[in-house]
Amino acid sequence: MSAVEFPRLLKGAPPIGKRQTLAEYEANGGYQALKKGLAQTPDEITKMVLDTGLRGRGGAGFPAGRKWTFVPKNTGKPVYLAVNGDESEPGCFKDRQIIERVPHLLVEGAILACRAIGANTAYVYIRGEYPIGIRCMEEAVDEARAAGYLGDNVMGSGWKCDVWIHSGAGAYICGEETGMLSSIEGGRGYPRIKPPFPAVEGLWRSPTIINNVETIANVPLIVRDGVADWKSSGDADTPGTRLVGVSGHVNRPCHIEIDPAKTTLREIIFDHAGGIWKGRHLKAVIPGGSSVPVLPNKPEALDVPFTYGAVKNAGSLAGAAGVIVMDETTCMVDALLNLMEFYHHESCGQCTPCREGTGWLEKLVHRIWAGQGRMEDVDLLDRVADTVGGAGAGKTICFLADSAVMPTKSFIKHFRADFEAAVRGGGSPVYLARKARIDRKHASHAVGAAH
Ligand SMILES: Cc1cc2nc3c(=O)[nH]c(=O)nc-3n(C[C@H](O)[C@H](O)[C@H](O)COP(=O)(O)O)c2cc1C
Ligand code: SF4
Repeated sequence: MSAVEFPRLLKGAPPIGKRQTLAEYEANGGYQALKKGLAQTPDEITKMVLDTGLRGRGGAGFPAGRKWTFVPKNTGKPVYLAVNGDESEPGCFKDRQIIERVPHLLVEGAILACRAIGANTAYVYIRGEYPIGIRCMEEAVDEARAAGYLGDNVMGSGWKCDVWIHSGAGAYICGEETGMLSSIEGGRGYPRIKPPFPAVEGLWRSPTIINNVETIANVPLIVRDGVADWKSSGDADTPGTRLVGVSGHVNRPCHIEIDPAKTTLREIIFDHAGGIWKGRHLKAVIPGGSSVPVLPNKPEALDVPFTYGAVKNAGSLAGAAGVIVMDETTCMVDALLNLMEFYHHESCGQCTPCREGTGWLEKLVHRIWAGQGRMEDVDLLDRVADTVGGAGAGKTICFLADSAVMPTKSFIKHFRADFEAAVRGGGSPVYLARKARIDRKHASHAVGAAH
């Protein structure tokens, strides 16, 4: 096995910590796609994206070109593009590579996408925890505007287009597409009931297309190099490349750009990320960011290409390609508690099953973790998860609730033994070690007081 990368989006990108300038981007073929796109009709650009089969990289993998065709024509209302760079999912940091290192690729993609959907304005929403990324994008937009790629007369075509950078303020729910729209409008990041879908009624009740940063960054490559060239990586299920972030118990936490059809999950972990740290063994991996089911260390889970379909068949989801690796010493009760604290904290509170249910999940896992659990609590946890949601359950306004359920059920399914051991042994090993430390401290204080 060998660690082969397929740089397309990151081809010619400067190293981490450096932003590609406009001059560098142009020298690398930058804004050639825009020149071509301005000579095409909007429908021609949309058809190219449709023909590639590009699937949204924000998690769900919905075909981008198809989404663009949902924009109603001739409503008399403005159309908007909203680019999702919130990237708050634990384990995900791939969009950051584009935002900080090749921001002009995203600017050019946003302009082309605007052209295709009939918009003149794009908002790029970036999580507040990415101050460097926000600065890089603002600098790139300023450069593009000064060079005539943005503004009232894009490249002398008479067509108007502008891009605005909008900063988040630390809420995970603002990555949910309609939560993001509420936030851009200046309100709380509350998700909205669908339908109406944003393509019909989004920002300020006008048609709005929402796409992930990586999705939009692919558009210039499609327009510049053509459909066949773009489709030369990936397969029919997952065409193109994928940016992947690898974190956790690996020797080399990294981000990579791979051909998803030619790279397995095992290769991502052991070749690209250098294998499991400290000479230990792999216990579990979450392949697509914290919201997707965890996979155990089994050949049928690891020896699969990193395509949407193959990872789904293996029992999880490629999602937003945030690969989180856990070694053999990980207590899965501890890991799940960490996730449940996150989902409960990030619930916006609008829906009862989510507001209350994520709290119950957290409390139940905590009870087991802290040695107060009963054996029947493991099944209770599984049943409570079913009442909160699950893939396609549709019990709540948005998928945050389902995102808490998928890890919970898969942790119990594959690692029940850890939960039962915590019940039997008076708590998780992490809890017991912490308790022993506190007990020792109390004992030494008591001895000190006696003297
Ligand atoms: C709680 C929650 C958080 C999300 N966070 C993000 C995010 O940070 N970035 C993102 O692109 N999509 C995120 N999504 C998915 C978006 O709602 C939406 O599907 C995506 O931005 C669409 O872009 P795409 O079709 O290009 O993938 C999130 C969804 C949920 C339910
Ligand atoms: S599912 Fe949760 S986060 Fe989503 S709208 Fe309902 S309460 Fe808010």
